Amino acid sequence: MEVLKTRDTTFAYRAPNVFAEYFSFGYQNIVFRQEADATWRYLRKLCTTSLFTPSSLKTSANFRQEELYALISTIRSAAIKGGSTFVLKARPMLYETNMNVTSRMLFGKKYFGEGHSYGPEAAEFRIILEQMAEESAKTHIGDFFPLLRGLDLQGTEKNLREKVRPGMEKFFAARISEHKLQHQLDDGIIEHKDFLDFLLSLNAEDSLSDICMMGLLSDLMAGGSDTGTIAVEWALSELIAHPHQFLKVREEIDSVVGQNRLVQESDLPYLSYLNAIIKETMRLHPPFPLLLPHYTPVESHLGGYKVPAGSNIIVNAWAIGRDPHLWSNPEEFNPDRFLGTDMQFVGGKQFQLLAFSAGRRQCPGYPLAAIQVAHTLASLIQAFDWGPPVGQKPEDINMDEDMGLVCYRTVPLEAAVSCRLELVL
Ligand code: HEM
Repeated sequence: MEVLKTRDTTFAYRAPNVFAEYFSFGYQNIVFRQEADATWRYLRKLCTTSLFTPSSLKTSANFRQEELYALISTIRSAAIKGGSTFVLKARPMLYETNMNVTSRMLFGKKYFGEGHSYGPEAAEFRIILEQMAEESAKTHIGDFFPLLRGLDLQGTEKNLREKVRPGMEKFFAARISEHKLQHQLDDGIIEHKDFLDFLLSLNAEDSLSDICMMGLLSDLMAGGSDTGTIAVEWALSELIAHPHQFLKVREEIDSVVGQNRLVQESDLPYLSYLNAIIKETMRLHPPFPLLLPHYTPVESHLGGYKVPAGSNIIVNAWAIGRDPHLWSNPEEFNPDRFLGTDMQFVGGKQFQLLAFSAGRRQCPGYPLAAIQVAHTLASLIQAFDWGPPVGQKPEDINMDEDMGLVCYRTVPLEAAVSCRLELVL
């Protein structure tokens, strides 16, 4: 609470680091902007006012719905083909759905599944995502021993400098050029079809350099990739391990939505048990277990201890979510604990539920993430029956967690899935 509230200003910095320098195009972004300064505020404002307001989220609802329909159709076909012994690996499909939503929001294009025709471009996009994920997971010796950075003992900086960043730059530059060309063809009239259109429509004094746009696009691509996938995969795992709660949320969805149509975003505020399940899942499995490291460039104090200048400050959201002083039976998956409480992910008075953090550096993507996670989970629960693979019991579901910046399941979820509703999508 001291880091994220009372001393928020002191600790709202980020440490410079090797990966960040290349990923952010020289700290021209939100996530790794070292200081919560005017540029950082402006970049956040561009996102919150153009992507995450209730009205812009309403405008983009149609393509989120299309991507969910595509996901459900793919699972349906696979389940029908696979028959009674069908086992689904949900993670790659969830990831692709999230990335399609993000890339459509940013560039107006999707790069996974059916319905795209961007062969080499899609391949480039996927390579970038893979490289970003791989590099972000590495520990760079130069971050801890700056004198050794120049030696690049792991060869990682060479990879970032010569492969990763040029690949990202080439991909983003091509998207920027094609958008600019389209605007010329449209006689300078810019229709706001996607976020890049919006950025290019800013007037001269508010406009961003191409490099800064690239930094911002990297942020949003990274923000929209793993986190939502992790949240839904853990929620499905917990529900398969707890069939009673699964039936309870299914009954809620049936009573609010019925069985003749699929759940829509406008139904979500009426699904309180679903929301409790999402809170309970992220209490136990926050996608960023240690948030992102905060930093102080000056000497400071925390909890009565001296904090030297140049220290990273790690907030352990995972441990706070399981602290027996804050939660009764903390290891138990019990969504009911949230019913009738006003505990929220953001904007609440409590600092117990920290999956999206709090204070200045709080996740700006929360309004989108909240809808995307809840809508995906509700649709999957409504459209399919989920259980452990044949021969396994709910209590056999492996709940081991990966160690890393983000916390995936160690073993990707495998579930027996069968179609439940006859839906026309
Ligand atoms: C389940 C989904 C998500 C979770 C759990 C999540 C969580 C977080 C967390 C813990 C942080 C670090 C906060 C801190 O340093 O104290 C963060 C930062 C951030 N997130 Fe998210 N996030 C999610 C989805 C998204 C989405 C969909 C976007 C945008 C498309 C996004 C964009 C960002 C950005 C730009 C930051 C950097 C904020 C800053 O440094 O000022 N996130 N997020």
